[in-house]
Amino acid sequence: MKAVVIRTFGDPDGLEVVEAPEPPPGPGQVQIATEAIGAGGVDAVIRRGTLAAYGFREGHVLGSEVAGRVTGVGEGVDAAWIGREVWAFTGLSGGYAELAVAAVEDVLALPDGLTGIDAVTLGGSGVVAHFALERARFMPGDTVLVRGAAGSIGNTAVQLAAKGGAGAVAVTTSSAERGTRLRNLGATHVLDRSGQLAGPDAPEGFDVVIDVVAGPDLPLFLDRLSPNGRYVAVGVVAGPPPADFGMRMIDAFRKSLSFTTFSSDTVPVDDRQAVRAAQFTDAARGELRTVVHEVLPLERAALAHRAMDAGEVFGRVVLKP
Ligand SMILES: NC(=O)c1ccc[n+]([C@@H]2O[C@H](COP(=O)([O-])OP(=O)(O)OC[C@H]3O[C@@H](n4cnc5c(N)ncnc54)[C@H](OP(=O)(O)O)[C@@H]3O)[C@@H](O)[C@H]2O)c1
Repeated sequence: MKAVVIRTFGDPDGLEVVEAPEPPPGPGQVQIATEAIGAGGVDAVIRRGTLAAYGFREGHVLGSEVAGRVTGVGEGVDAAWIGREVWAFTGLSGGYAELAVAAVEDVLALPDGLTGIDAVTLGGSGVVAHFALERARFMPGDTVLVRGAAGSIGNTAVQLAAKGGAGAVAVTTSSAERGTRLRNLGATHVLDRSGQLAGPDAPEGFDVVIDVVAGPDLPLFLDRLSPNGRYVAVGVVAGPPPADFGMRMIDAFRKSLSFTTFSSDTVPVDDRQAVRAAQFTDAARGELRTVVHEVLPLERAALAHRAMDAGEVFGRVVLKP
């Protein structure tokens, strides 16, 4: 089968299309003939070698989110899965391939009306957006800022905050055109990457910040929290924050601020699957929008990564074998 491996950590030229052996489903696993493969920000982080300590080494088949038809089951898995159209998280076993394997608890049948392309756009990121807002104790009426809203986690967080009755949903983004697209998803205020340029009615402070970006500017956004504000860092698209960023919170002691990192890895798998299933149903009904930047052939994975590195992607790139 065709697969895309990380030959050398670093830029997208280090990705290579190879002929690889077909992976058999092991005990507790299903095998999937992929029809859509998500290519997201976390794949770029893995490609650069940042997560090598977690087992994502050179030679690894990149990707972790696929949709397709189940073609086989391993020991202990109900054969009724065979033939079903599913979404799956493939973890360390890789997803940029014509065949992928996944633990059955990480597999979800697709509802009628949801394409594989939609599923890999929403499946991983929607859950992060949902539980990040929950971790932030988001309530109707709260003012929310989504930092890095143009990605698939961010644009889903914007939609969920708007549907959840936020008092305002501000976003950071890099262009007016992206701002307009985010307004169409529910944003009420558009800020530039440094948090400026809001209209005269923009909230002074935010009850909740959902931050996909981190990086050197993170303290500027801690300053934007209202008293009792909650800051949830879900990504490091711009790298880690300055080591002393916690001093900003100590300096603002009397505002009773909270800061937390959040990874969906800490959410029990059944809870993740229940939220994902509800979001898939909403998306199939058109109540939650999936934002697909482009669909490319699997062999063009390096091109997808160049577009991600150049900051050209709005939403999600999807690969098709
Ligand atoms: N917490 C979890 O459970 C979890 C799960 C999966 C992934 N992640 C993490 O989430 C991140 C990827 O999320 P994603 O795919 O939604 O994001 P993404 O598409 O990679 O990036 C989101 C947006 O951030 C903005 N951005 C990029 N570089 C920036 C910079 N230097 N300064 C300010 N803004 C910048 C860009 O929008 P503009 O150009 O419009 O500003 C970009 O579209 C990764 O860090 C990954 O590790 C976390």
